[in-house]
Amino acid sequence: MTKLKVGIIGLGGIARSHCDAIAGLDNVEIVAVADLFEEKRNEYMTKYNIPRSYASHTELLADHEVEAVAVTLGHQLHHRLTIDACRAGKHVLVEKPMALSLEQCDEMIEAAATNQVKLMVGYTQHYYGTSLKAKEILDSGQLGPLITAVCYMSKNWSFAARRPQYRSRYHGGGMWVTNGVHVVDRLTWMMASQAVSVSAAIGTRAHYQASDDSATAFIRYKNGLAGVAVAVGYADGAPNYECQVICANGTLRFSQHGSKYIQLGKGDTWEDVPFADPPTEMHNEWKAFAESIEQNIEPPTHGEYGRHIMEIIFAAERSAITGNEVMLQDSHAWLHQKSGVPVTTRHGWI
Ligand SMILES: NC(=O)c1ccc[n+]([C@@H]2O[C@H](COP(=O)([O-])OP(=O)(O)OC[C@H]3O[C@@H](n4cnc5c(N)ncnc54)[C@H](O)[C@@H]3O)[C@@H](O)[C@H]2O)c1
Repeated sequence: MTKLKVGIIGLGGIARSHCDAIAGLDNVEIVAVADLFEEKRNEYMTKYNIPRSYASHTELLADHEVEAVAVTLGHQLHHRLTIDACRAGKHVLVEKPMALSLEQCDEMIEAAATNQVKLMVGYTQHYYGTSLKAKEILDSGQLGPLITAVCYMSKNWSFAARRPQYRSRYHGGGMWVTNGVHVVDRLTWMMASQAVSVSAAIGTRAHYQASDDSATAFIRYKNGLAGVAVAVGYADGAPNYECQVICANGTLRFSQHGSKYIQLGKGDTWEDVPFADPPTEMHNEWKAFAESIEQNIEPPTHGEYGRHIMEIIFAAERSAITGNEVMLQDSHAWLHQKSGVPVTTRHGWI
């Protein structure tokens, strides 16, 4: 079997999850890593048996064996490094949040299209076993028409351990940009439609920092429905990662963190639903990325989709400042990929 040869750029915390996931796949292998720090490079090379490492991403991108890269470093570097990687002819899996402005997202999408490489955004919630099962049930139509959904990510912000960039909105930090993307991704995907407007309250309520720690957004969709996204990094409390979906003939609730469950509501009772549990969500994420390259189809969380999630995030921020509902631009064209490659509906995004 030919393996997809991958380079990982940025060897911080999340790179470990990527490497673990790839180690569990037989069609992907890591051939090189890049990080500024030698001890990190050595640590990863030893632990994951990786043959080469570089001190800069430009050196890694010049490695002809590398076909695809994971951009796994700080938010503010996603844009620049993705563009450099596309120009070097590498497929890109960029960590969330996609970038720090819509202009940056557009340039990333353009760079991928021009260089005919795949661009995927690492919206991990899209690859959880519970999320995939929930989407499958909703798409089957067995619960009847969708009415609304509410998604939470409410957790301890762990202020003392938070690195400075996450406490600064200027550097792309804050609960909303950092973790709100997960909630908005899951909600928007379940709502099976594109957002048309957002009204939100976003603020810094529990910590003294230069970025928000809490957000509630009311999002209207093209299909006429609305959903609510809640992302809060509290100072003390107990976590809630649940998503609840209400349909005309049944309800669903599911969560992947802490206890993993998906429950179906019928006849005033919640019943557990069995679901396929992958080793990790990253396992599914890398499987989908490799599959999109191998089959030349768009990945489920492709660049245009990634941009749409950021559009909702930024519109919510504007709404919180002005106190008004913010209309999104009509971004209908994104359904037709610039690369001309058909969009996969494998994960239900239509
Ligand atoms: N999908 C998820 O659920 C999830 C979870 C955690 C983090 N993330 C995302 O992953 C990204 C990285 O987060 P992290 O916490 O692992 O970051 P981190 O700060 O721990 O690590 C970044 C690494 O990149 C290296 N680096 C910085 N500039 C570099 C350059 N120019 N060339 C090469 N290496 C360079 C640093 O030395 C560091 O080791 C963030 O955008 C974050 O939002 C996603």
